[in-house]
Amino acid sequence: MKTPDDALSTALRSRAAGTLGAGDAGTAVTLCGWVHRRRDHGGLVFIDLRDRWGIVQCVADPERLDEAAFGVVERLRAEDVVRIEGEVVERPQGTANPDMATGAVEVRVSRCRLLAASRTPPFPVDVEKEGGEVAEDLRLKWRFLELRRPGLAANYGMRHRATLESRVYFDDLGFWEIETPMLTRRTPEGARDYLVPSRVHPGEFYALPQSPQLYKQLLMIAGFDRYFQIARCFRDEDLRADRQPEFTQIDVEMAFVEEQDVLRTIEGLYRHLFSACLGVDLGEVPRLRWEEAMRRYGSDRPDLRIPQELTEITDAFRDTGFRIFDSVVEGGGRIVALKVAAGADASRSQLDRWTELARSSGARGLVWAKRMEEGWTSSIDKFVEASRWERAGAEAGAEPGDLLLAVADEPMRALPAMGAMRVHLGHERGWLEEAAWRPLWIVDFPLFEADPRGGITPSHHPFTAPRGGLEGLEAQDPLTIEAQAYDFVLNGFELGGGSIRIHERAVQERVLELLGIGRDEAREKFGFLLEALEYGAPPHGGFAAGLDRTVMLLVGAASLREVIAFPKTTSAAALMEGAPSAADPEVLEELHLRVVAPEEAGVDESR
Ligand code: AMO
Repeated sequence: MKTPDDALSTALRSRAAGTLGAGDAGTAVTLCGWVHRRRDHGGLVFIDLRDRWGIVQCVADPERLDEAAFGVVERLRAEDVVRIEGEVVERPQGTANPDMATGAVEVRVSRCRLLAASRTPPFPVDVEKEGGEVAEDLRLKWRFLELRRPGLAANYGMRHRATLESRVYFDDLGFWEIETPMLTRRTPEGARDYLVPSRVHPGEFYALPQSPQLYKQLLMIAGFDRYFQIARCFRDEDLRADRQPEFTQIDVEMAFVEEQDVLRTIEGLYRHLFSACLGVDLGEVPRLRWEEAMRRYGSDRPDLRIPQELTEITDAFRDTGFRIFDSVVEGGGRIVALKVAAGADASRSQLDRWTELARSSGARGLVWAKRMEEGWTSSIDKFVEASRWERAGAEAGAEPGDLLLAVADEPMRALPAMGAMRVHLGHERGWLEEAAWRPLWIVDFPLFEADPRGGITPSHHPFTAPRGGLEGLEAQDPLTIEAQAYDFVLNGFELGGGSIRIHERAVQERVLELLGIGRDEAREKFGFLLEALEYGAPPHGGFAAGLDRTVMLLVGAASLREVIAFPKTTSAAALMEGAPSAADPEVLEELHLRVVAPEEAGVDESR
């Protein structure tokens, strides 16, 4: 949707600078904005004037301006704020700039007023200037200047559009947007909480929500049936390019639904967003069982733009006499291979780099085998006869000149390691189809995962309904129970996830019990939910889409920091305003808090 030009006029300006075009030639305008660039040229002064909508070239001619006015123009510096009056004219023959949206015209300056002077910025806002590459810490410290850089603002325009279009989509389907509290009781989503001390309840704390999970379930029990919220969430977890400590979900919950209803609704949301924001038809969204995704792609968020799949070659290596393989195979492990077409000429140092990569993704090592014209040669020729590779190669479809890379390990080590290799090689060797959009659903997740610290943890969250109900929970090995949970994946990113929820108290209590949360603890922590489940809880389910990650893909950004206006660093710090920061002693006293220095408390700060 385009904002009408006259809607942008104010007491100070008649038009937005960046919206001018050939059709405006001959009109008198008053513009306001920042001096993006000033160039002096044979007596003329050219000012590139920038506002949110773009940049337009203004020309000041000493012949047409009085001395005082020209003096103002001559003294302008980058990032000064000015008000320029003038006439829009077509640019002289041969000087139009097709790379600029306003490039067909320029503004002949008749008056110029300095509204606010700028000091020399710590780095140029004009990215084309020398020194345009600036360290991220400096950019984050001066974020308001970085946000002025052309291009970045458009990301926030897209974010606005995606948020608005989500609201339109859900409103049309009869959903209500309802806000849920920020000062809450803990909702477990697998991360640490941010806590807020209570002044009036000494020694007690609110938790900021990791998600609105329990509130939205309670809204279903309240009978609201269809809820959504553009919800801010807080998680104290290890950060990376696609994770921030505070982020936004498009959070959804529906009553009287089964899995297929939620999938259809959410698919519709993504289809609507991509069509409204990019004009892209996402096409069919295939569904893949979790187990199959792991087996074929070594990942629960496979990037389907890479066609290459993994191949299991365990059967080709039974009873080889090679101790490492035999012990893996006998112990129920797998040998997982990736074919690298035309990879047999890989050098020693290349193979070493791939081995390092496999190790950094959790494998204990990497085996390679090259199919040469004359037969197979491998890194384990001393231990395993070449005929074994014949069979493995046939399974992987290897031709002469191809290479196999393989890892032997327990499945949940071998598969992710080769999955990471697949993605790495997909980029490195150009297998990836850059411009494509390849969405998919991952369904039938396991309900629980083995916790490396012992016991089991929920794969999604503890409110997810198991397939097979209470009987399944009683009879089956917990690690074999499937969940009614699903993730939406696009181009290798998990954009969102959800599940059908438990709506019976007995089932919820049993799941908590299996997670090692006894009845008393369950009542203490989740009593309000358990009770609510006894007052007519409808079958319900929902989903949460990561808004930040969705916008990141919509604008083609590499990091969430490009789509969050004021993001945090990887150590969760806000460099511009300086947060977190120490609190005044009086404030701490009021909050009944005492800060113990790390050395006093015996805390190892390096951890
Ligand atoms: P989940 O924890 O899978 O599910 O989160 C849903 C989506 O939120 C996004 N997300 C994040 N984005 C940026 N930074 C983070 N630290 C971060 N953590 C999560 C992801 C993720 O897919 N209550 C459930 C949903 C439900 O069951 O309805 C939940 O929060 O895109």
